[in-house]
Amino acid sequence: MDYNKVKGWLTGEEAEFLKEISRDKDVLEVGPYMGRSTVCIARTAKSVITIDTFKHEDNETGQTDSYTSIVPFLQNTLEFDNIITIIGKSVDVAKHIKDNSKDIIFIDGSHKYEDVKDDIRVWKPKLKKGGYMLFHDYYGGFTGVAKSVNEWKKPERVIGTIAVVKII
Ligand SMILES: C[S@@+](CC[C@H](N)C(=O)[O-])C[C@H]1O[C@@H](n2cnc3c(N)ncnc32)[C@H](O)[C@@H]1O
Repeated sequence: MDYNKVKGWLTGEEAEFLKEISRDKDVLEVGPYMGRSTVCIARTAKSVITIDTFKHEDNETGQTDSYTSIVPFLQNTLEFDNIITIIGKSVDVAKHIKDNSKDIIFIDGSHKYEDVKDDIRVWKPKLKKGGYMLFHDYYGGFTGVAKSVNEWKKPERVIGTIAVVKII
């Protein structure tokens, strides 16, 4: 599936960046929604674990009912056999993921300050040394994302609205 045919917010520049940084990597994604970012990652990654409540969380996505995005998500990602999809809240699912097991973690779930802080806390230990944590919507008015990231670490660079933080 071409990412452009999937409803979502990722730009062409961001899509290309996700595809390149994911090449041959073990990637974990929080917040696939209908899979626009997921198809970019899965195109080149070794493995993808993707986690979403697939519920209407806080009106950001326009979902009005629970699980409205899960059917389009499954249809859009059907061609890939390297994706494991987990339905649940990011912080709950993190307990079941091994430490030091991921090269890239892409965060695009809740954009609220406290939630992004929680995501940083629970996902940081899951990254291998030299891995990257990526945050969508670092720019663009989502002050909760920028604030929580800046309090933790200065991004190495920002591609579109994706802040890139390297774990040393
Ligand atoms: C902005 S959308 C993601 C867009 C997607 N990455 C794309 O490229 O189109 C945010 C998604 O995060 C999910 N979400 C919000 N809070 C979450 C949480 N605490 N745990 C897991 N998923 C969450 C929402 O259900 C929604 O599907």
